[in-house]
Amino acid sequence: MTGFLNESVPFLDLKSMSAEIADDVLPAWRQMFLEGQFVGGPPVEIFEAEWAEYCGTEHAIGVANGTDALLLTLRALGIGPGDEVVCPTNTFVATAEAIVLAGAVPRFADVSPDTLLLTPATLRAAVTPQTRAVLVVHLYGQMPDMDGIAAVAAEAGLLIVEDAAQAHGATWRGRRAGSFGAAGCFSFYPGKNLGAAGDAGAVVTDDAELAERLRVLRNHGRSGGSHHSHTMVGTNSRLDTLQAVVLSAKLRRLEGWNVLRRALMDQYREGLAGTAVRFVEVAPDATSVHHLAVVRVPQRAQVQQELGRLGIATGIHYPVPCHQCPAFIEYAREPLPVAEAAADEILSLPLSPHMSLDQVSRVCTALREVLEGLQPMAEVRHVV
Ligand SMILES: Cc1ncc(COP(=O)(O)O)c(C=O)c1O
Repeated sequence: MTGFLNESVPFLDLKSMSAEIADDVLPAWRQMFLEGQFVGGPPVEIFEAEWAEYCGTEHAIGVANGTDALLLTLRALGIGPGDEVVCPTNTFVATAEAIVLAGAVPRFADVSPDTLLLTPATLRAAVTPQTRAVLVVHLYGQMPDMDGIAAVAAEAGLLIVEDAAQAHGATWRGRRAGSFGAAGCFSFYPGKNLGAAGDAGAVVTDDAELAERLRVLRNHGRSGGSHHSHTMVGTNSRLDTLQAVVLSAKLRRLEGWNVLRRALMDQYREGLAGTAVRFVEVAPDATSVHHLAVVRVPQRAQVQQELGRLGIATGIHYPVPCHQCPAFIEYAREPLPVAEAAADEILSLPLSPHMSLDQVSRVCTALREVLEGLQPMAEVRHVV
């Protein structure tokens, strides 16, 4: 095992990704910098058109980040005070933040023990007469049963908004993330499958009126092509020109990178077969883009610490479900046992497209060794 101490495995390899696109990006950046073109312009419009086409939607509206994509979408749909919005509790807090910032109330729902995603049944259980929408989260790169969720939403008269921040290119029955709901919201935070060189985001939709409201909201409520006609209380949430160039360069490689992620996940499954490691399952109708390599392990704290000692960087997405976070506890209604149990067991292993199969093997060998060395829980308690 001593070799492992010298060969650490990073959680995410952004340097290799940047190196791959540097020749596309740096000359364009240089020119834009010298010309002073920083806000709007053809690169933003080109990326918006490319992103809409990729997602299979009519429109894409670039914004400053994924949280704004969610917040502005809820606002543009007229969701606010007096409304409830259902979302799964096991998500990044931005999902819940957007609901509260829009003035609505988050209704947290539990998830499937297999996929850790919202299900038609957990959605139905969270709906009340005040519920106006469901914010479906495609966590870890996978979409839930969108047909079942759409049926429950139709029955209850709910709008569907997709939080697709972790699912660039994921599909459900062949249809891409972002193209199911009234709108799909993306983050292009650097670590995402499609990431900018800083913060960026976008909303995709087929609804021309919604797209127009979003364009107005992101630009200080300006409308009608006039710089001084402010028809709505908007905000400043534009996609930077420099970021649009990076996103277009990476979009050309996204499919290939997602294929590499899938191959690395297959290797993880093979390398950890027969151990106590439990993978998040991918439903037969879903294609995951494996934003994160999440597994469930016993004695997570000890496993994570031991892996760290062996040079394997890991993460936890997310250790506290939203309904148990101090910021959102006032919205907690009932225990959500599946998400609560998962929060204590989940561990995100290193994963990014430039990771080598050899690095995956090293992680698997280290994890096997750590699991074999675990003391049974009863013994641990006795010692303590
Ligand atoms: C599920 C989810 N929703 C929303 C966001 C918010 O995106 P951003 O960080 O770009 O605001 C993220 C990104 O971190 C996320 O993972």
